[in-house]
Amino acid sequence: MRPEAFANVAAGAGNERTVAANRAAFDRWRIVPRMLRDVEQRDTSVELFGQRLPSPFLLAPVGVLELAHPEADCAVARAARDTGTGMVFSNQASRPMEGVSRILADTPHWFQLYWSRSDELVESLAGRAERCGCQAIVITLDTTMLGWRTRDLEGAFLPFLHGKGLAQYTSDPVFKRLITEVPPAPTEQQPRPSLAALRTLIELTRAYPDGFWRTLRSGGGRAAVQRFTEIYSRPSLTWETLAFLRERTELPILLKGILHPDDAARAVAEGMNGVIVSNHGGRQVDGSIATLEALPAIVEAVDERVPVLLDSGVRGGADIFKALALGARAVLIGRPYVYALGIAGRDGVRELLLNLAADFDLTMGLAGCRSVADIGPKSVMPAPGLELAAPAVAPQRL
Ligand SMILES: Cc1cc2nc3c(=O)[nH]c(=O)nc-3n(C[C@H](O)[C@H](O)[C@H](O)COP(=O)(O)O)c2cc1C
Repeated sequence: MRPEAFANVAAGAGNERTVAANRAAFDRWRIVPRMLRDVEQRDTSVELFGQRLPSPFLLAPVGVLELAHPEADCAVARAARDTGTGMVFSNQASRPMEGVSRILADTPHWFQLYWSRSDELVESLAGRAERCGCQAIVITLDTTMLGWRTRDLEGAFLPFLHGKGLAQYTSDPVFKRLITEVPPAPTEQQPRPSLAALRTLIELTRAYPDGFWRTLRSGGGRAAVQRFTEIYSRPSLTWETLAFLRERTELPILLKGILHPDDAARAVAEGMNGVIVSNHGGRQVDGSIATLEALPAIVEAVDERVPVLLDSGVRGGADIFKALALGARAVLIGRPYVYALGIAGRDGVRELLLNLAADFDLTMGLAGCRSVADIGPKSVMPAPGLELAAPAVAPQRL
């Protein structure tokens, strides 16, 4: 990957304390293996919304995968299909959801939505997700504005401004209409274009799906980026807004970015079908609570009414085991599969998923559990001496 692309993926917000906290939270728990329980036959599968996953993890929605590999979302989807792993399509994907959904066929796939300023676009994206066979919609709540990402700021790099990660938009009929409403760029008093500006114009034009010369003449690439930056998210979003989508789709809706038990309880009360405990891999609020720290109180508040999932910092079978022991139904994996994609495309992601599944299976069996149902609060304990030093490790009321 190019240095600025790697920096964009690896980046956390601010001083990246939450990136570190996510990992540290896993290290504060220890697995307590049990013996003599006949673990020869094991079943690592879990059920989510009527579909069975072979292992309790899915691929988290990650935007702009073209930064890692030219086949982007398509390569990831092929690896997901190879292994039966569920995949969540990003709103900022590099490929339109319809084509990626065709690759996945029966393999579980969900669509992640950023709530745009245009309700019409929200409705259009959700409708497309439903029609192309996505089985759930994930609304990401924690990115109504992009976090303070120092690595991106240092490199002055924002992929969207180069037309990358806009495939769900440029393939959308409502968005295409919204582009035509963009006023043309003022022609007077424009400075002479620099070489960098020309390069960006070429990138924007290439990124737009209408063909290079047509797009160059129409200015579609530039207009798409301009429209996108105007409407991509809605910081004024409130709980009341969610009813708009609840009334328009039969699909299960999950809220991603939940970190407080009261928000989790409210999600259930508003008719949501699941919550994802996430801090966006530490990319939004530097210093925010680690997801594994937040999990127990959220599980208690939700009280088994809907599934609770978790992401941010999951890096191996033991992490998955710990999250399940503390009440998560499944976890999502982010950066590791982007790196695997960058290294070896579809094969890289498939290897990662197979390795992760094997690691989890062995951890589960060696801990004395035959299935995920055997994994529970007694399967783990806080690391000795840390209970008092780090109060957040124990289930707590916030
Ligand atoms: C490069 C990158 C792009 C991401 N893009 C999105 C996105 O488009 N939508 C979203 O809901 N989350 C996005 N996320 C967050 C992931 O879905 C997930 O919450 C996070 O990566 C999990 O943490 P981990 O990377 O430590 O596993 C992105 C994360 C990264 C690293």
